[in-house]
Amino acid sequence: MQALEELQTRAQEELTAAETLEATEAWFRDYLGRNGALTNFLRGLSDLPREQRPEAGRAGNQLKNLLETALHTRQEAIRQQEMEQTLAAEGVDVTMPGRRPTFGKIHPSNQTLREIAQIFGQMGFQVYDSPEVETDENNFGLLNIPPGHPARDMWDTFYTTTPGVILRTHTSPGQIHAMREYCPEPIRVILPGKCYRHEDVSARYDMMFHQVEGLVVGRNVTFSDLKGTLVNFANQMFGEGRSLRFRKSYFPFTEPSVEVDAGCVLCEAKGCRICKNTGWLEILGAGMVHPIVLQNGGYDPAVYSGFAFGMGPERIAMLKYGIDDIRYFFTNDVRFLERVG
Ligand code: PHE
Repeated sequence: MQALEELQTRAQEELTAAETLEATEAWFRDYLGRNGALTNFLRGLSDLPREQRPEAGRAGNQLKNLLETALHTRQEAIRQQEMEQTLAAEGVDVTMPGRRPTFGKIHPSNQTLREIAQIFGQMGFQVYDSPEVETDENNFGLLNIPPGHPARDMWDTFYTTTPGVILRTHTSPGQIHAMREYCPEPIRVILPGKCYRHEDVSARYDMMFHQVEGLVVGRNVTFSDLKGTLVNFANQMFGEGRSLRFRKSYFPFTEPSVEVDAGCVLCEAKGCRICKNTGWLEILGAGMVHPIVLQNGGYDPAVYSGFAFGMGPERIAMLKYGIDDIRYFFTNDVRFLERVG
């Protein structure tokens, strides 16, 4: 019995001295584990004289319960203490300023599209939606580009598995949709949207880009109307005085045709990689709607005339914000979205 009392004293002292959970586990092995002192004591009961066994057994089991309870209490205390230490060390400073949520900004392409729509809106143009997936017929044939026409080489595109259905190479097929819907009413619309071309990707071209088509059809619409509209647009978009250059050009669906360049802001028209050292960046193609196209849209070219243009809003955004690579628009770099606009 005395041995048991000594064991109890020692066990309790050691448990109080155990400062960590590992130490309490070692303590468990020493006293209650398979070879622990108390376990051995209980195992040795059968060696005691018969009359001592009941009392020794009772005392041993009582001590076992006591030590088990003491162990759990000690472990709980250690856990509590560890938690308090961690909290004190890693405590949250509630007076620190919070993290600001970053707000999304409008993508520069969309922002430019909206500005374009607003400027043309003031001139009485409505926005007309037309599909990105088009028929070969609308994208080429009805725009006076029959199969085998060399102009098709300029507009190589992505073909779907359905014969004759392609991703549009320009917004011009929208002209056909708009004319067929409005004929014989006069038309003044812009048609914004995505276009696709199989191109060598470079700082100026990407395989997907936006265009804004413009179409005006009516009686007595002249080339002066086209020029006045575009000059007014450029003045509003870039500020008065940005130089514009009209170059004669060729499109199968307009006659006569022009390409319009704006003075390169990136290099102040001195010449850089974007303007190919010319000081000019092409922003749109335009012209008087070809009689065949008017006819395909349902209008009698002897009575009606019209002009059309197709501009690249990314090109316009590059000029307006001094962006030197068109690929920035579609690489989803968040810094780009934060900087512009
Ligand atoms: N569709 C032409 C292009 O993608 C641009 C254009 C539109 C030219 C309308 C004339 C008239 O290059």
